[in-house]
Amino acid sequence: MNGKQAKFSEAITNGYTFKGDSVLLGCGILDGTPVDGIQVKAPLKMFNRHGLISGATGTGKTKTLQGIAEGLSDAGVPVLVMDIKGDLSGLAAAGNPHLKIDERHKHIGAAWKATAFPVELLTLSDEPGARMRATISEFGPVLLSKILGLNDTQEGAVAIAFKFCDDNAYPLLDIKDFRAVLQHIIGAGKDEVQQKYGLVSTSSVGAIMRKLLELEQQGASRFFGELSTDVDDLLRLDSNGRGYINTIRLADMQSTPKLFSTFMLCLLAEIYEKFPEKGDTDRPELVIFIDEAHLLFDEASKALLSQIETIIKLIRSKGVGIFFCTQLPTDIPDAVLSQLGMKVQHALRAFTAKDRKSIKQVSENYPISEFYHIDQVLTQMGTGEAFITLLNEKGIPSPLVHTLLKAPASRMDVLTDEEIKKLIRSSALVTKYNTDIDRESAYEILTAKLQKSAKDDAALQVEEKRTTTRSTRQTKTTFEKVMASSVTRTIVREVTRGILGVLGIKSRRR
Ligand SMILES: Nc1ncnc2c1ncn2[C@@H]1O[C@H](COP(=O)(O)OP(=O)(O)O)[C@@H](O)[C@H]1O
Ligand SMILES: [Mg+2]
Repeated sequence: MNGKQAKFSEAITNGYTFKGDSVLLGCGILDGTPVDGIQVKAPLKMFNRHGLISGATGTGKTKTLQGIAEGLSDAGVPVLVMDIKGDLSGLAAAGNPHLKIDERHKHIGAAWKATAFPVELLTLSDEPGARMRATISEFGPVLLSKILGLNDTQEGAVAIAFKFCDDNAYPLLDIKDFRAVLQHIIGAGKDEVQQKYGLVSTSSVGAIMRKLLELEQQGASRFFGELSTDVDDLLRLDSNGRGYINTIRLADMQSTPKLFSTFMLCLLAEIYEKFPEKGDTDRPELVIFIDEAHLLFDEASKALLSQIETIIKLIRSKGVGIFFCTQLPTDIPDAVLSQLGMKVQHALRAFTAKDRKSIKQVSENYPISEFYHIDQVLTQMGTGEAFITLLNEKGIPSPLVHTLLKAPASRMDVLTDEEIKKLIRSSALVTKYNTDIDRESAYEILTAKLQKSAKDDAALQVEEKRTTTRSTRQTKTTFEKVMASSVTRTIVREVTRGILGVLGIKSRRR
């Protein structure tokens, strides 16, 4: 070992040795040569500081994601993976041995062992997996308006529709319910609504209906409804104490970016609301990976972006880390980028002038290194290699290190249809979530109401409904259960609405 190598080894060893538990990432590379046994690790404690995995297509981003997810699972941390291209199901199967993998791991100084991980497949569409859903009322008027891209007047109308349902205890479960309520507040219920909450114009409702249709065309009606996902189900460990890797298959979501950002925001808000405050702990509660993350931001409106930024900032204190996987760091909005504590930068390609410009920009954003010409290494790195820098346990950036990344221990390819079927058959979540429910909610109630005498007062009717169902069925009806849960959820939701800094709407409405 020459002097430069010795200095490098010392710097990396010092920079990447941690007191608490950590996840092995790989070993350091100097002047294009792996330095054996000089390991690069990420401390578990810092995973809630979020991260970025970037690089050109085919440079190894998804495999890096796979490897880190494995390390977290092994450490007993549950993981949620947004599998946009559908190439991460292989986590559930043991990997195939290869001479090159052994060679890689000899440098790293850790034996490679083919391993299958505990995986739950989740879905937003018709793909195989446990269905993930949320009710409209959980979603709340503010997020819904942001997603639909409504103006202030239309947003006010949505707020009135929600308030009307809250006050009358009409459960808002799916899009059908929401449409029924909108129709009601400009139709049969117009006078009552105007008196209590203010005027809602037919043209506002018309505009909202059109935007709803757009969202529905992206498949949103499958997402809104019951049974809504209990985010605690994402925190399971297997019998060996390994964290479940919950994989959401979103292969068909690339053409529906609006639905994707809707879903992500809803999920993050729900997690934020449900998870207790953790502060700084030794390990994260959950780490979320978003592959092809540019899809989340591409079509998002300014208002939506600011919601995403806010929630990413806040969710840290719940012990939740979010990792974005994307080609260029500039795919991520600056406000999000500046919050990311760990960066894994794979190779970039310099084909065009624009490429060269972004390479320059990327290299300038890394700390100055005495070991590398960053812009040169950036274009020369091999597959499964990356520049890494992260926050250590004290929150101080570690030295930038060109890293030979470990290979995933699970399969670097997808599961076969047979394997997927088998996984689904043994899934506890599929059993829980894959039954269609259409409980009595706003749509049914309002339809029934129309058929009844018009002079009936709304409150009276809900009461009537309660007593008749009770007397015929004795036990607590689904309607009552839904009503109870929807009421408590609305109260909690109000809190989140406040945290998200959007309570302004409430006061404007009156
Ligand atoms: N850490 C790694 N160990 C071994 N092979 C890797 C590693 N990372 C990437 N590869 C190889 O490179 C290919 C492309 O990697 P992938 O992660 O799919 O790239 P990206 O997501 O950046 O497009 C993989 O199929 C695999 O053969
Ligand atoms: Mg990929």
